[in-house]
Amino acid sequence: MTGQLVRPDAEGLRRAVAILRADSVVAFPTETVYGLGANAFSERAVGEIYRLKNRPTWNPLIVHVADVDAARALAETWPEQAGELAARFWPGPLTLVVRRARHLPGIGAANDTVAVRVPAHDVALSLLRASGLPLAAPSANRSEHISPTTAEHVVRSLPDVPLVLDGGACSWGIESTVLDLTGEVPRLLRPGALGLRVLRDVAGPIALPDAETADGVARPSPGMSRRHYAPRARVVLCKDVDDVDRSGLAGPIGVLAYEGTEGTEILSADPREYAADLYAALHRLDDAGVATILVQEPPQTEDWLAVRDRLGRAAAK
Ligand code: TXA
Ligand code: MG
Repeated sequence: MTGQLVRPDAEGLRRAVAILRADSVVAFPTETVYGLGANAFSERAVGEIYRLKNRPTWNPLIVHVADVDAARALAETWPEQAGELAARFWPGPLTLVVRRARHLPGIGAANDTVAVRVPAHDVALSLLRASGLPLAAPSANRSEHISPTTAEHVVRSLPDVPLVLDGGACSWGIESTVLDLTGEVPRLLRPGALGLRVLRDVAGPIALPDAETADGVARPSPGMSRRHYAPRARVVLCKDVDDVDRSGLAGPIGVLAYEGTEGTEILSADPREYAADLYAALHRLDDAGVATILVQEPPQTEDWLAVRDRLGRAAAK
């Protein structure tokens, strides 16, 4: 598509590493979504992420590392639970918030803590190993827009990104689950790819976000602003898409539904498969030029927590 999209072969990785070492940024695939990465030790490089994404500086970034030892090196203390969770779920879509080691610069407003994860993607791991750097990397989209699950999505959202390693579509298609391990009990900061049930098997009880706001959307993590993950079109959630009064809605109208219903985009009735295709479907609806997206609300069960969270934010005005 453009010269920025690069195959993640030896030459592509070499170019990416050279850019990272020169304090600039590179987009790369992970198993969740594409990340926009920079050397976490370089304040200049991290600043470049905030500038390109137009991200508010109070919102801290996740630092990606190649293995548990590299994660521990960024932490002041490494709780026993971090060890257990990492052993079970890393590499994988789980981000752990722990106390930050003093030699790592604070990233965003997170003065005392750092969010770390080991991504389960060959390209991401090759990049981490080849660069030898911990990579601060938020999702590679403009702030508040839909996260990218393909390299093409990245270039469309961030045309000025110097290089994108093209690893095809992301398998999970939704961001990692973020758990805060700095308190007595692990606390869920962002529902994500890994469900609570599997996490509880290892971590025991998990505190859920307590700060429900007036609009019913929790705002537990600095980055969980109400409007987020938003397509250009207006998103309207509804119990039954056929029952909605469409007279007041701007057209063209697209319908995002799950199996068994009529719609422009039909997603799986299985929460994991639904999540894997959700952002790509929202991108497609935007590309089709719809002004309104009617979204059939998924069931109110824990398995659908992350999907419901993202849809709720996409629909917030
Ligand atoms: O799956 C993912 O997590 C993707 C891929 C690229 O790894 N990354 C991602 O990053 O979603 P981002 O920046 O879009 O979201 C990071 C979330 C935000 O809600 C941010 O506020 C929170 O993690 N976060 C980062 N550092 C934190 C910290 N020290 N304490 C609390 N929350 C933190
Ligand atoms: Mg993001």
